[in-house]
Amino acid sequence: MKVLIIGGGGREHALAWKISQSQEVKKIFVAPGNGGTELERNIENLNITEIEGLIDFAIKQKIDLTVVGPEAPLALGIVDAFHKNNLTIFGPTKAAAQLESSKEFSKRFMARHNIPTAKFATFEDTHSAHEYLKNNPAPIVIKADGLASGKGVVVAMTDEEAHEAVDSMLSDKLYGSAGTKIIIEEFLLGEEASFIVICDGSTILPLDSSQDHKRLLDNDAGPNTGGMGAYSPAPLVTDEINNKIMDQVIIPTIEGMKKEGITFSGFLYAGIIVDKKNNIKTLEFNCRMGDPETQPILFRMQGDLFSVLYKAAKQELKGVDINWDNQHSITVVMAAKDYPIKPILGNEIKLPNTEEKGTFIFHAGTIFKNNKLMTSGGRVLGVTAKGETLEIAKNKAYRILSEIEFDGAQFRTDIGQKALN
Ligand code: AMP
Ligand code: GLY
Repeated sequence: MKVLIIGGGGREHALAWKISQSQEVKKIFVAPGNGGTELERNIENLNITEIEGLIDFAIKQKIDLTVVGPEAPLALGIVDAFHKNNLTIFGPTKAAAQLESSKEFSKRFMARHNIPTAKFATFEDTHSAHEYLKNNPAPIVIKADGLASGKGVVVAMTDEEAHEAVDSMLSDKLYGSAGTKIIIEEFLLGEEASFIVICDGSTILPLDSSQDHKRLLDNDAGPNTGGMGAYSPAPLVTDEINNKIMDQVIIPTIEGMKKEGITFSGFLYAGIIVDKKNNIKTLEFNCRMGDPETQPILFRMQGDLFSVLYKAAKQELKGVDINWDNQHSITVVMAAKDYPIKPILGNEIKLPNTEEKGTFIFHAGTIFKNNKLMTSGGRVLGVTAKGETLEIAKNKAYRILSEIEFDGAQFRTDIGQKALN
């Protein structure tokens, strides 16, 4: 079988790494891939980004399955375009991907189907947004409606920050067209978990839980990022919470979409917040795997990911199960200097010479230039390890990380700490 993976981050390296372990898979292409996928056996990077070009390639190469990593091509309708050409692809259609590509769509959808989420209002005009803030003081959350790589959310702890966020999104167009509409949302207090399922349109197969670290700095300080580290499983997601998420969020979402005439096939990611009383609310939906959550999740997955995704793309997920390694896994992201604002790229990366068992360095923003591995993106590497306990995994990951060098590297030193406390 031949597989095409769309994307070039840490998530796509992890998907390619896991899919390459399948006995059935002979060759994997990753478009565009990164320095890490270039190093892997049976994996080739592909310098094609346009959907039409990818379709031509998939037809000519007789690709058996295409898996889409990031949200942008999904929002552009890559799945619809592949289907039109009778190509097998795993991911949601453009209509289904609105759960992620428009926060307004997803909030209104949740309201229609009684899916628990924060109270909200939408604005396109600066004056009304400022007026609304006068009656709804901080803490409050301001979100760009469209896609902003996880950075279009401001959790304002003061009224001043809230007004500034409105101005930067609506007046200064900080997020361009993604922020011509904004959501102002009630602030929720609690702990977060990432809950991801595979769906073939009707059958739902949950993956094991994980927890991301969205803020740049230790102790959840600094700006929101795409994610600075994650671990799996998340002890926060007990059986009780797991069942609540399935019953109150995941199942009503898949069924609600179907009732509205939209079949959801793909990864569905619910960002969940759990309060002190164990009530849950949905922070957001993504229509894809999380990054970096994919790395620790797939590091614990047993069995054949290709076979699961192929069956899901063919609507044959019924009866399929996934077994999980009992060990705990963790990924610590190493990011470039000045990420997430304006990361400095083009620095040489020095990796350890040997690979320790139970660890793996997933690449994200890396590229080979003149046989040298260089930084090429904001998040550079995802140092991943597993162990009998989260603490063992954490210590292993940080030990490997201490052997990696590039100028200006920044990383959090407290990934996993919340679960350990
Ligand atoms: P989102 O992209 O909507 O998941 O938002 C990014 C991050 O902002 C989340 O992971 C939370 O840490 C935080 N956040 C989003 N919405 C809220 C909310 N209503 N209350 C508190 N924090 C929030
Ligand atoms: N790590 C969060 C996300 O992938 O959206």
